[in-house]
Amino acid sequence: MQENNRTSFLTPACIFTCIRYQRRMNTTDFTRCPDRSNTGSLKWQKYANTDILPMWVADMDFESAPEILQALRDRVEHGVFGYTVPYAEAARAATDYLRRVHELDVEDEMLVWLPGLVQGLNLVCRACGSPGDGVMVNTPVYPPFLSAPIFSDRTRIAVELVEKEGRYTFDREAMQAAVTPETKLFILCNPHNPVGRVFDREELSWLLDFCEEHDLWICSDEIHCDLILDEQVKHVPFLSLGERAAKRTIVFLSASKTYNLPGLACAYAVIPNPKIRKAFQKVCRGIITEVNCFGYVGMIAAYTHGEAWRQEMLTVLRQNLALLERTLKEKLPRVKMPKMEATYLAWLDFRDYGLETPAAFFESRGVGLSNGTDFGAPSGFLRLNFGCPTSVLEDALNRICMALAE
Ligand SMILES: Cc1ncc(COP(=O)(O)O)c(C=O)c1O
Repeated sequence: MQENNRTSFLTPACIFTCIRYQRRMNTTDFTRCPDRSNTGSLKWQKYANTDILPMWVADMDFESAPEILQALRDRVEHGVFGYTVPYAEAARAATDYLRRVHELDVEDEMLVWLPGLVQGLNLVCRACGSPGDGVMVNTPVYPPFLSAPIFSDRTRIAVELVEKEGRYTFDREAMQAAVTPETKLFILCNPHNPVGRVFDREELSWLLDFCEEHDLWICSDEIHCDLILDEQVKHVPFLSLGERAAKRTIVFLSASKTYNLPGLACAYAVIPNPKIRKAFQKVCRGIITEVNCFGYVGMIAAYTHGEAWRQEMLTVLRQNLALLERTLKEKLPRVKMPKMEATYLAWLDFRDYGLETPAAFFESRGVGLSNGTDFGAPSGFLRLNFGCPTSVLEDALNRICMALAE
């Protein structure tokens, strides 16, 4: 009888639960780079069957948090994958997160869910003004900021950021000189990809005054806001500037960059002004698909249970940044990098080497970097993604050192 009892205690369901519990207790091995070949990975497919290390597109080589993996498994177990509309738990996860991490009060009704922010950038250009109107951006910048106005039949007004003592900021005079009566929208990247800045309250307040003076909408892409590396710096959400900002601002957010979930395609805009929200939703109609069911599940799990993973991941990124800074200082003093406050994307200035085609040069030496010209920068700048195990970064930096020693 006793024996029987013991047998029934070890049912398959119970064993499954134990394994699930162990997995929940598991932490991510940030020293391991999962094999991503044959997974359709944009990052790895580019250099499939070569010895080139992919250090380009903004996607990290870390496995997702165990809590996210478990939530996705549970959703698969449910077994029905019908059309999915935004649901209360998704909005609650996002608004709770914004309140907890960024001290920002956002109402559910202000949220517009999107499958991605590249779509968002194109939609906001179409929602604002009319064909021919101006959209101002600062360069260098994430390439879709440059293409979205053009794809949307708008006039792109690109104004360079200015570098002061290794720190990029707005060129206020140049922006005042470039703005036109037809300019209707300014697109901000904060924290900034690729120069790694977290703009401070004074800079953002100036920008708000500028946009108010010229009656511009502001689209503030804050996708990198949870990737602050400099512990002395805090992200300033554009909406924290108050009512004046809320009246003209569209904020873009997503858990995808921080928790490495871009393939799940879930992002959102926060649009407090109902008129702007309506205009934005109008251009989405019939074109933008609903976010898929796994996208919501990943985002909810990340925002609700991902904080410990995020902190561990940030520790690894900070170690990687320290390694990069040390290598530049000790071995590559001719390569310049601005002070990195956020993101895992380093903006490197190789101009001193006079390389004719820098990206191709490093590819031929086994390192795949993003070409700075795609970001609207002069030739000689390259962007390096260090969202990877430290050993992979070490390998890439050794290859770069060897290439430049030739
Ligand atoms: C500033 C910025 N916005 C948007 C995106 C892309 O967002 P999504 O994957 O949601 O289209 C990126 C990706 O690197 C980015 O750096």
